[in-house]
Amino acid sequence: MGPMDGIRNIVILTGAGISAESGIDTFRGGGGQSGLGLWEQHRVEDVATPEAFARDPNLVLRFYDMRRAAVQEKLPNPAHDALARLDAKWKGGLLIVTQNVDDLHERSGASRVLHMHGEHLNAWCTWCDTRSRWTGPLVERPPCPVCGACALRPDVVWFGEMPYRMDEIYAALRSADLFVSIGTSGAVYPAAGFVQTARDLGVRTLELNLERSQGSEWFHETRLGPASEVVPAWVDEMLG
Ligand code: OAD
Repeated sequence: MGPMDGIRNIVILTGAGISAESGIDTFRGGGGQSGLGLWEQHRVEDVATPEAFARDPNLVLRFYDMRRAAVQEKLPNPAHDALARLDAKWKGGLLIVTQNVDDLHERSGASRVLHMHGEHLNAWCTWCDTRSRWTGPLVERPPCPVCGACALRPDVVWFGEMPYRMDEIYAALRSADLFVSIGTSGAVYPAAGFVQTARDLGVRTLELNLERSQGSEWFHETRLGPASEVVPAWVDEMLG
């Protein structure tokens, strides 16, 4: 019996590292990023807060308009494709919980994807509290397609805001046999704490990352390398 035998329910957490080889910059850590999380001299944390939006909404909206345009130019890489293959073929429970706001999991064909930090391609109307698919800019204050109010903001979870669908994520962890963390630095809670929760629940834990993350010692096993290599290799193993 190998360590992956007897696995039925899998929860996979992905972070910026899985999209790095698609040309989307990570926030922290290695991966050859050009921006190091900086944008026009602002730390990402300084444009990704409700306070920043209140202080200078045009700056924040322009920042997200730029990123929303950029993700639409990118393509899924072999790591996304491998997870989509697992999603299609895995007979047991599977949930991909992503911290990423890009849509590369969906575009590679994965269906069981939960965006805990929101999505670039959604706009959230703060007037009528509905979300609409949105691909264009927001800085010109277009009207909400549902209520007409000019109160749309990026549907992205900012620092100090509550990530989405935490109840569903913890429910999935409770019934999981395996928790896999891919391409995340383990710096941002609550996602960074999922491995400890999984361990407390007796779930087997595996880390796939370019380098050891913060909290790497919590994992039963770590496999280091670029996501485009280690993820397809792991999926092949799972699908036998
Ligand atoms: P980070 O940028 O913090 O971490 C990316 C991780 O991916 C690092 O550990 C890198 O070593 C690793 N990495 C880089 N290139 C890789 C590759 N080719 N293959 C595999 N791994 C690679 O990104 P996250 O952990 O996702 O939050 O960041 C978490 C959150 O912080 C984000 O969701 C975002 C940010 O602030 C919000 O926007 C709310």
